[in-house]
Amino acid sequence: MDIREALYTTRAMRRVKPDPVPDDVQARIIDAAIRAPSGGNTQGWRFVMVDDKGQIAKIGELMAESIDMLFSTIYKEQAEYAQTSDDPEAKQFKAIMNSVHWARDNFAEYPLLLFAFDQFDTSGGSIFPAVWNAMLQARADGVGSSLTSVLLFKGEEPLDVLGVPKEEGWRMACCVPMGYPLGKWGVAKRNPAHEVAYRNTWGNPIDPIPEPLWP
Ligand SMILES: Cc1cc2nc3c(=O)[nH]c(=O)nc-3n(C[C@H](O)[C@H](O)[C@H](O)COP(=O)(O)O)c2cc1C
Repeated sequence: MDIREALYTTRAMRRVKPDPVPDDVQARIIDAAIRAPSGGNTQGWRFVMVDDKGQIAKIGELMAESIDMLFSTIYKEQAEYAQTSDDPEAKQFKAIMNSVHWARDNFAEYPLLLFAFDQFDTSGGSIFPAVWNAMLQARADGVGSSLTSVLLFKGEEPLDVLGVPKEEGWRMACCVPMGYPLGKWGVAKRNPAHEVAYRNTWGNPIDPIPEPLWP
């Protein structure tokens, strides 16, 4: 696959089929992850690939509780507003909310979860390049993924399910459920680059880029 297609179309793909992700595809995903840069090439990361149904069910329970906590605290007001308004922002929030609730209700059916952990990486900057590499490689193999951090609501509980040696300082960065998409790939919608990027000094505009530059 063209790298630009992968860059532009790797979306939060939460609605996926239960079909297993074969071992060779899993191997490519994890091998791509560890090609990523890390500060000083320290590679202070660990990954847990979870495809055991019992483990996925246990994580699913924690995920459901976490998602409910998210929408009853941090996103409470937005969730209420989205139910009553038709403005474009509310619509977009509602779409994400529906998709997240789909993930909650169908979590046990995910065929694969990728957990990423870092150690003593205070900036968090050395783990997410590896996670994104994994998601791009998954995309190249037709596998959808969605990065989630909401399990952090559950503190050490996910680490205990996975047997993580917490005393060694391993910290969960994220959980990335994966699987073959139910829907279609599309270009990720974003505010255009010229609204958020400047040239040479803050506020000095770059030339407008009104449409995505791919395809
Ligand atoms: C640091 C980070 C944390 C995220 N946490 C969650 C999460 O807990 N649950 C979830 O469903 N999506 C999560 N996402 C996915 C975002 O919601 C998603 O990337 C965003 O809505 C854009 O989606 P799109 O690429 O499909 O347009 C997270 C993304 C990032 C980068």
